[in-house]
Amino acid sequence: MKQITSNAPLMKEIDRIREVAGYLWEKGWAERNGGNISVNITEFITDEIMALPALSGTIAFDTPHKNLAGHYFYITGTGKRMRYVAQDAFENGSIIRLTSDGAAYEIVAEKPIAPTSELPSHIAMHSYMRSNRNPNNKVVLHTHPTEIIGMSHHKKFLQPNVMARTLWAMIPESRIIVPRGIGIVGYEIPGTMDLANATIKQLEKHDMVVWEKHGILCVGDDIIEAFDAIDTMVKSAQIYIAAVQTGGEPEGMTDEQLDGLIEPFNLPE
Ligand code: 13P
Ligand code: ZN
Repeated sequence: MKQITSNAPLMKEIDRIREVAGYLWEKGWAERNGGNISVNITEFITDEIMALPALSGTIAFDTPHKNLAGHYFYITGTGKRMRYVAQDAFENGSIIRLTSDGAAYEIVAEKPIAPTSELPSHIAMHSYMRSNRNPNNKVVLHTHPTEIIGMSHHKKFLQPNVMARTLWAMIPESRIIVPRGIGIVGYEIPGTMDLANATIKQLEKHDMVVWEKHGILCVGDDIIEAFDAIDTMVKSAQIYIAAVQTGGEPEGMTDEQLDGLIEPFNLPE
């Protein structure tokens, strides 16, 4: 559809999503169809795109999201592989539009590719961020990083702040790049509203949430920044594992060393 492909600002954003999808595969975080991405692209939508007819039926949400009425999202397709999203975003994902009451959505471009099974959870997060955090938070990125999932199999890392404190203590950058730490959600069935609601609770204090024995999720303004935040924490997890393998539990940065970063980098305490 030329309404989409001739829209340079929109296609630039789609290219950035493709770029990140490729990284997820290259990093080994996206086995088969693992992970999903949604981005609120309403700012790029023209009158021509608004006029596009629906390619699907109207599919209702369990709960309406009035604050997202008429909003548009690019969202990866259910069962679709990140390595192929990287090649062709519209064979492996679609653009959806929420109805004027925010109670349902329809697919408008480019093909009727069914959205991720985590759609109810992604949309609930976008709705929460718009009203309760910052309307510039336009991105939800979920992926399956091996080292972080491995750590989430150990109860000690599921205690409040232990995962974040352990990873922060591995390298100063992780404290600086992920200043709000990591929330933890105990095991829930993928794609459920229980998982969504537990995640939203964690988004009050964090931009990044680990799902026990499943994966990680990061929200923010920008898809590349969300990827980089996860990448930084995965690097810390790799350093932690390397340290354990080479000499047992590492000391890590001390509280004093970590607190010493707060003032120079203007971090929240
Ligand atoms: P989808 O293929 O439905 O996006 O599911 C992948 C996934 O990671 C579920 O948590
Ligand atoms: Zn998943």
